[in-house]
Amino acid sequence: MATSATAASLRPRSPDDGEPELAQSRAELDSLLDTSPLAANATRAVVMTMGALHAGHTELIRTARARADQLIVTIFVNPLQFGPREDLSRYPRTLDADLRLCGREGVDIVFAPPIVHETPPLVRVSAGPLGEILEGASRPGHFDGVLTIVATLLHLTRPHLAFFGKKDAQQLVLVRRMVHDLAFPTEIVAVPTVRAPDGLALSSRNAYLTTHQRGSVLALPRALAVGVSVADEGADVVLAAASEVLAAEPGVRADYLRLASPDDLAPVRIGQALLLVAARVGTTRLIDNIELTLPGEDG
Ligand code: PAF
Repeated sequence: MATSATAASLRPRSPDDGEPELAQSRAELDSLLDTSPLAANATRAVVMTMGALHAGHTELIRTARARADQLIVTIFVNPLQFGPREDLSRYPRTLDADLRLCGREGVDIVFAPPIVHETPPLVRVSAGPLGEILEGASRPGHFDGVLTIVATLLHLTRPHLAFFGKKDAQQLVLVRRMVHDLAFPTEIVAVPTVRAPDGLALSSRNAYLTTHQRGSVLALPRALAVGVSVADEGADVVLAAASEVLAAEPGVRADYLRLASPDDLAPVRIGQALLLVAARVGTTRLIDNIELTLPGEDG
């Protein structure tokens, strides 16, 4: 493992360069960033993850790599975003494999601290009303926890660009709002969802599914695809058709199925929309969404 940064860090890394620099504390990250200052006009990008990296993360990293002179990947399972009955302790942790993937993808720096806040932060970012709907309705405080760590990691990594996946649509909307409302000097870039050949959106949580459950969850992408296929017939038809698909799969307990604005998640019936779904399969909660255009004003 390389331990010190040099001016060579400023050249976009290639897979032949071996493993990325690893920082495991704020001080180590600071020192790496200070000893490899960016040239004028150079771009630093960050991809934030909780590890257990899969092809969805690879896509984020590749998209970021293509736009950045210096690329940082953060790996931190953030306790602030897990509720008391959620899966913090069983969340998959695969640091060695994650570092190898980052090496193959030419990441410059991996920031993988065991802790970010020495004590739970007393002052936190509030997601406001947008954090209480959809995912927030069944995961109180989740988005406050996400935004608090994202804000902290943005300060620590000091990026020009930060890349987030469209699969976590509500997270993406909220991160964009935070960066806008609180004037962070970072551009947020959205990256399309990566799907398995059978349509399932890639997620670290898919690892919890049994073979049987892995079959049942396909009702989620199927419901979204059916929704898109009837989008021309309007919002009611989309919701009815998609919910029929979910209801037909006994292993799936749908939590919500909604049409919402991609900008602020307000309910929409015309124009550009996200069809969002959340469901439980066994004890695993999964989310997915797809973009569609409903007939009407902008459609
Ligand atoms: O999307 C995730 O993996 C997490 O919510 C994030 C953005 C890394 C914050 O912990």
